[in-house]
Amino acid sequence: MTTFDLVIPGGTVVTASDIFQCDVGIRDGRIVSLGHSLAGDHTIDASDRLVLPGGIDSHVHVSQPSGPDIIMADDFASATRSAAFGGNTTIMPFCLQEKGNSMRQAIKDDHGLADGNCYIDVSFHMIISDPTEQLLGQDLPALVEDGYTSFKIFMTYDDLKLDDREILEVMSAARRTGALVMVHAENYDAIRFMTDKLESAGNIAPYYHATSRPIVVEREAPHRAISLAELVDVPLVVVHVSNGEAMEEIHRAQTKGLKVFAETCPQYLVLTEQDLDGLNMEGAKYVCSPPPRDQESQAACWDGIKRGVFDVFSSDHCPFRYDDTAGKLVPKGRTSFRWVPNGIPGVETRLPILFSEGVSKGRIDLNKFVAITSTNHAKMYGLYPRKGTISVGADADIAIWDANREVTISQNILNHGADYTPYEGMKVIGWPQTTIVRGKCVVRNGQLSGKPGDGIYLERDRSPYAASPVSTA
Ligand code: URP
Ligand code: ZN
Ligand code: ZN
Repeated sequence: MTTFDLVIPGGTVVTASDIFQCDVGIRDGRIVSLGHSLAGDHTIDASDRLVLPGGIDSHVHVSQPSGPDIIMADDFASATRSAAFGGNTTIMPFCLQEKGNSMRQAIKDDHGLADGNCYIDVSFHMIISDPTEQLLGQDLPALVEDGYTSFKIFMTYDDLKLDDREILEVMSAARRTGALVMVHAENYDAIRFMTDKLESAGNIAPYYHATSRPIVVEREAPHRAISLAELVDVPLVVVHVSNGEAMEEIHRAQTKGLKVFAETCPQYLVLTEQDLDGLNMEGAKYVCSPPPRDQESQAACWDGIKRGVFDVFSSDHCPFRYDDTAGKLVPKGRTSFRWVPNGIPGVETRLPILFSEGVSKGRIDLNKFVAITSTNHAKMYGLYPRKGTISVGADADIAIWDANREVTISQNILNHGADYTPYEGMKVIGWPQTTIVRGKCVVRNGQLSGKPGDGIYLERDRSPYAASPVSTA
């Protein structure tokens, strides 16, 4: 009797806590059996392979409005296709409320772009740039009920930054509604001060992007954000942390018992500010915020991963084409680093880089890899245990890895919409070969087998890490 739609036999299954040999039996898109000698309508052999929960990348930017005449390099089709090739089964892009606009409309617009076009599953965070009474009092509670249960706020960027009073109002609204707050923590005024001084001295090349936002501006801002969160008693996720000093602010709060969580990204493990020092505009390829730092910061971030200061490892995929006036080579960017679009591509390379630099080089074990690339994202953002693990009842979101495959990362093997990778020439050991989303094979042995529409939109529960909502009954 055939009992399964798909069986993955012979692999080594890894979760955030265990490693075991078994077959995975899948029916109706869910894992229904972990056993031996399972038989099904279809089989994907995983002998000599690792069978991991599909990656969840909880920090990506897709088709996000990025300023006049600037166009992001990925739409939902290309971003989710690229993510699938990188061993991911869910991504979480941001839905931006532009100042003066309604969040509901922004979400509607993004659904218009995403629905039916995705190869893997997606779920939106919101970005709050205009915390009106209407948004905080009416729209946000309704949106959280509808499954948009997390949002990001910014302490920098001209059109996004909130002042401390606004941050407190937004955090209070999150406290009332049980939403999870993510924060981009850099000091806006300090960056503007530095930028003006650098420009006055004629230091306008992309390299000075890093000089304009030194570690101290990223140490002060999380300290302030954490203090404000403490004041209103709301949990906080500090995203894209780049260095040890910012990390120690977070660790101090964690040690005090505050609910402060943290994320770091590949660029802070393997790039440095020297990468921004390219000839002509080449450095623009690495302009992102916070900027990559130095080797000491890289070591601190590894240490934070090992010590558990960082809960999640995301890409902060924010792709712009390089050789494009709607991307990194926007004409104004030649007049100052201030105008170079911030962000780098990385949704496809996040997992191989961490696997190779982390697991293959012995810095972290496989369980840690799974935890910080999948399970913890699902837990943090209200998708667990449906997503983020291999267990009976979970969605059959699986990446089959060849732990020994040696690959040189290069633009010509990637599937994103950007025209470069910041990791060009990097040699990695370990690569995802097959990606399965809810039982459907989207990438098989390195070849695309899925189609737009295979991915669905995921409404999320409230995060168990967020405050309990205040009852209005
Ligand atoms: O430079 C970056 N990180 N761009 C993406 C937007 C953000 O702040 O996450
Ligand atoms: Zn950010
Ligand atoms: Zn980001």
